[in-house]
Amino acid sequence: MRKRIIAGNWKMYKKMGEAKAFIAEVKGRLPITAKVEMVICPPSPYLSELVNESEGTSLKIGAQTMHDVEEGAFTGEVSPSMLADMNVEYVILGHSERRQYFNETDESVNKKVHAAFAHQLTPIVCVGESLEEREEGKTVERVSSQVEKAFNGISADQAKAAIIAYEPIWAIGTGKTATSEDANEVCKEIRQEISKLYDESTAAAVRIQYGGSVKPENIAELLSMEHIDGALVGGASLVADSFLKLVELAA
Ligand code: G3H
Repeated sequence: MRKRIIAGNWKMYKKMGEAKAFIAEVKGRLPITAKVEMVICPPSPYLSELVNESEGTSLKIGAQTMHDVEEGAFTGEVSPSMLADMNVEYVILGHSERRQYFNETDESVNKKVHAAFAHQLTPIVCVGESLEEREEGKTVERVSSQVEKAFNGISADQAKAAIIAYEPIWAIGTGKTATSEDANEVCKEIRQEISKLYDESTAAAVRIQYGGSVKPENIAELLSMEHIDGALVGGASLVADSFLKLVELAA
């Protein structure tokens, strides 16, 4: 039985005061359950503060990206050891916005997945097809190739601990969600790819989230699907009530 995981990706939203107010608001209202992991990924300047604010609760904090090396002359970047040092536990890697606007490639994502495991960070590895690829019938080919490249050189034990987020690019922030059946079908293919790369027990253990316009109104149906173990949520994770609703519905 895979533990569900609801992760909020705040992207480049909120000021520090709003971020702290969010944590204060959800803190005492999180469901008491072992069934679901709850994660918020704020902008990097707030990470340390939010780790402190959420200490002692079941809410975990994740980063939205990181570099793959320890330290160096990389202006503006955050290293894996800095995240670990701040007690950040998760890191989103290869989000389509990072791939699209910041030139992240399957190869750089792979280096970051290695770096995440080297620093005891749980990677949330994002994959997903564009609208054009979907229309050309290339969805499975695209996401399978992203998974294969992201996990290159990663051990089976590490893969078991990884989280994969399937986010069709055309469903992000558009209000368009893949049907739960379509999303499940692609998540099943991702699991099969993991089985091909490793074995069935690794495929059965790896957790796969769906992301793309997830909200309280559609999460139950998505989570009822066999291969969907959680959600990576953008817009609907910005409001405390809506984030709480999402985690309640997953619990
Ligand atoms: O990382 C989250 C996704 O990009 C989904 O964003 O829920 O606003 O569509 P969204």
